[in-house]
Amino acid sequence: MKVAIISGSVYGTADEVARHAESLLKAAGFEAWHASRATLQDLQGFAPEALLAVTSTTGMGELPDGLMPLYSEIRDVLPAAWRGLPGAVIGLGDSSYGDTYCGGGEQLRELFAELGMREVLPMLRLDASETVTPETDAEPWLAEFATALKSFP
Ligand SMILES: Cc1cc2nc3c(=O)[nH]c(=O)nc-3n(C[C@H](O)[C@H](O)[C@H](O)COP(=O)(O)O)c2cc1C
Repeated sequence: MKVAIISGSVYGTADEVARHAESLLKAAGFEAWHASRATLQDLQGFAPEALLAVTSTTGMGELPDGLMPLYSEIRDVLPAAWRGLPGAVIGLGDSSYGDTYCGGGEQLRELFAELGMREVLPMLRLDASETVTPETDAEPWLAEFATALKSFP
């Protein structure tokens, strides 16, 4: 199964989590592909059968600037081929921001819903106030994600 991983990061943490996800999913037998500055054309060229989005939050609940072009492109086009595909989101944030905690991840969840994708696992929230090892913390969730994809109809 081809799993596309998109990521948005300001300081690099979300990109590292995405790279770790790519290697774990490959080890689990998936054809995983990650590009931190992917365009819609890159993604459509890969022809994903599942999508994983990993993003941090900046400003007041916003997506990182680097992800905005891809986010807008996907939102404008809403590729019909992705309807019904399994997907999930990893949101990085800091709970000390209160209401905007993991707001970037929430925006991608909404986008996935607009695309008609199936969220196969609730969003993983990685809290910068709680952890300094986000990649390792994501491992149990990634194992569950792999299992959910394998059993996806
Ligand atoms: C200027 C700035 C604004 C931020 N705003 C939010 C926010 O609104 N909500 C949130 O949950 N986290 C917020 N964060 C925390 C980051 O999302 C968090 O530290 C994350 O781990 C950074 O990941 P990155 O290295 O991939 O950018 C903010 C961080 C900075 C520096």
